[in-house]
Parts: sequence; C-alpha cells; structure tokens
Amino acid sequence: MRFKDKVAVITGSSRGIGKATAIAFAREGAKVVVNYANNKVAADETVIEINKAGGEVVAIQADVANEADVKRLMTEAATHFGGIDVLVNNAGIVIDSPLLEKTAEQWEHTLGVNLIGTFLCIKHAVPHMRGRMCASIINISSTNGIDTLSPESADYDISKAGVISLTKNFAQELAPEIRVNCVAPGWVDTDINAGLEKEYIEGEIQHIALKRWGSPEEIAKAVVFLASEDASFITGATLVVDGGYQ
Ligand SMILES: NC(=O)c1ccc[n+]([C@@H]2O[C@H](COP(=O)([O-])OP(=O)(O)OC[C@H]3O[C@@H](n4cnc5c(N)ncnc54)[C@H](OP(=O)(O)O)[C@@H]3O)[C@@H](O)[C@H]2O)c1
Repeated sequence: MRFKDKVAVITGSSRGIGKATAIAFAREGAKVVVNYANNKVAADETVIEINKAGGEVVAIQADVANEADVKRLMTEAATHFGGIDVLVNNAGIVIDSPLLEKTAEQWEHTLGVNLIGTFLCIKHAVPHMRGRMCASIINISSTNGIDTLSPESADYDISKAGVISLTKNFAQELAPEIRVNCVAPGWVDTDINAGLEKEYIEGEIQHIALKRWGSPEEIAKAVVFLASEDASFITGATLVVDGGYQ
C-alpha cells in the first residue's frame, strides 16, 4: 500500500476519471476526500464503494471555480483527516460549440473551472500540505492542451494548455517540498464524451495506436504513480496517457 494513512483530495470524484482515481487511492491505503459540484447521488455512490472496500472516505460539495467553496473544501478536508498529502485537480468541463459563436460567459465558465479552479485548489490546499512527508499535486490536463486541438473546444483546449503551464510554474514554486505533475489523457470513456456521435468516435479510434479508448482506471493508475514515491525525482512533468494517438 503506497499511501497508507496519507490523505488524498480528488476534485470532481463523483464520476469518471476522478471516481476511478478516488477508488485507486483508497485501494492504496489513502484516506480519501471525494469532491463534487452538483451530483450528490453519484458522490454518495463513490463513498459507498470505497466504504465497502474498507476505505476511509468523506464527500464534500464544492464548486472549484468558487474561491470560498475551495477554501472551505480544503479546510474541511484537512480538519476531517488531519492534513492533506495529495491533491488531484481533476474537476473539469467542456462545452463544444462553433468557435465564433462562443460567448465571453462560456469562456469564463470553462477557464473558471478548468484553469482558475486548479489554481484556487492549489492555493488553498498548500497551507495544509506544508511540512508533510512526500506531498504531491497532480493536475489533469488533456492532449487537447498539447496537440489534438479542435476549434469547437478552443476554450477547453486553452484551459488545458494553461494547466500544463500552471504545473511547471507550481513545480518550481513549491520545490523541494511538494512535487507538482500533470497527466494529459487522450480519449477516455466517461460522461464528458456522452454527446459525441458514434461515427466521430469510430473515426477517432483509427488515430489511436492501441485501437480503443482508455478507461478511467487506466488514467487513475498514472495519477497514483506520479503521486507516489515511485516518482520521487519527477516534478513539473506532463505524462501523456492516450494509447498512442496520431
Ligand atoms: N474523458 C476524457 O476523454 C478526458 C480526456 C482528457 C482529459 N479529461 C479530463 O479529465 C477530467 C475528468 O473528466 P471526466 O471525463 O471524468 O469527466 P466527467 O465524467 O464529466 O466528470 C466530471 C467530474 O467533475 C466534477 N465537476 C464538474 N464541474 C465541477 C466544479 N465546478 N467543481 C467541482 N467539481 C466539478 C463533476 O461533478 P458532478 O458529478 O457533481 O457534476 C464530476 O465529478 C477533466 O478535467 C477532463 O477535462 C477527460
């Protein structure tokens, strides 16, 4: 167990990649804080799954784009479990629409959750992570933030490129005490992609060397690795997990 008695906060862990990551940390012995924005039912299901497997877990509602919420999330998490060792900034949204029709409000919403939300979570988690052994932060970007761009999700792509830059900046700022790394998934089978056409999905699979989408659990494994002492000399890095997309 690589995280025995450590405390892991995973934003957006009621569903998808965040849920798989919360379960993976619990399996490694961590006490887990499940965060969600609106979907209490899904968050409670994640809690039940972790509890059934014998894990310690608490669910806390908070909108990562809202600074007061984020401050409360980190304070409640640290108070409940006595500090924070691992922060995974996973909460994210995408709103596909023609680029020229995007509104300022839409840009602000996407950047607010994906990029500013990541910054706010780090800002308010760090005071609770100082002085702990082997503290680590993992940000979830996307290959859309590197090279698989799409004009319909330009605001998302730019937010995810920003997450990679934020990772490198915080890796310098928080070294040597806290390592900061990033995972950039390619296509993963979750609700965020529920609206995509079958033909589009099949077309995209042809670009993937492994000829399939990834599972949330496969992303979770990369997150757990980067947060663990197996990655003790890695900071400021972005690990692409996309099945070999070209
Ligand atoms: N799936 C992919 O193909 C893919 C690829 C690359 C990167 N990613 C990234 O991976 C991360 C997880 O995506 P996913 O596919 O697992 O998405 P998902 O299944 O749609 O789950 C999104 C999660 O984020 C939470 N969330 C959304 N807005 C939030 C907010 N303002 N504050 C707090 N929590 C919020 C949701 O909570 P509620 O349940 O309460 O709504 C939910 O738990 C995202 O950052 C996404 O951009 C995904």
